[in-house]
Amino acid sequence: MTLRQIDTIEELRAILDRERRREATIGFVPTMGFLHDGHASLMRAANAANDLVVASIFVNPLQFGANEDLASYPRDLERDTEIAADAGVDLLFVPSVDEMYPHGAVSTSVRVDELARRWEGATRPTHFAGMATVVTKLFWIVGACRAYFGEKDFQQLAIIRRFVADLSIPVEVIGCPIARAEDGLALSSRNTYLEPAERQAATVLSRTLEAAATAIEKGERDPIVVAELMAAMVATEPLARLDYAACVDPATLDVPERIDAPCRLLIAAQVGRPRLIDNLGVSCE
Ligand code: PAF
Repeated sequence: MTLRQIDTIEELRAILDRERRREATIGFVPTMGFLHDGHASLMRAANAANDLVVASIFVNPLQFGANEDLASYPRDLERDTEIAADAGVDLLFVPSVDEMYPHGAVSTSVRVDELARRWEGATRPTHFAGMATVVTKLFWIVGACRAYFGEKDFQQLAIIRRFVADLSIPVEVIGCPIARAEDGLALSSRNTYLEPAERQAATVLSRTLEAAATAIEKGERDPIVVAELMAAMVATEPLARLDYAACVDPATLDVPERIDAPCRLLIAAQVGRPRLIDNLGVSCE
């Protein structure tokens, strides 16, 4: 099947209902567009495991705060369509804001409590409810067997797993490894905002994660000491301003008393205009 762009929920549902009747498995990759190799790797994973791949491109206003970059969020549908087609997407769902939110403001939303309040949620208090609401809507629209998300947005992935379980949504959520540039920077659509010197400075995030992982591998077991080490390393980069650095339990995102099980290192920092996030899993054996 060559890639087909679909703009309405009705048309997408009609096609997918037909596919389900012939027992096709459907893999789904939701995105906000401006695709990079990280998105393409999710699409390739979906293509390898399913009969049909649906990807969506929707810059979801609900998940942007008042002072965030909704109006200037990078968009390039022509390029995205080529990337999606090359990565094996069959149906590219590109709804308008009116199609997704025909009544304007939504009066029903999906809110995940504890998990959504900390880390990203501390500075972006409405972000995760906006994300969870649109992902739930997309799950209902697509009815996929499997949905693919990058581990780069590690808290987002934990929240999606939680509301899928809480609401018994019949989809298997699959987390895929972070795609990185050669110098370690995690790929992100927002990297496009970085000026050349900031692009260089931004590698401090992945370098800091690696240094903290090495400290744990060498025996450091205090998560506070690890977080301090990370903060000190980010402070050496004048173009970066740390938001948070933490060593957390990968499921609850709580800081453990002691690192005696696999953990996740989380980091967020402002580097020039964009606020960048990254993370790394560490097994402490
Ligand atoms: O990760 C993203 O690009 C978005 O948060 C998502 C999951 C597509 C929901 O808008």
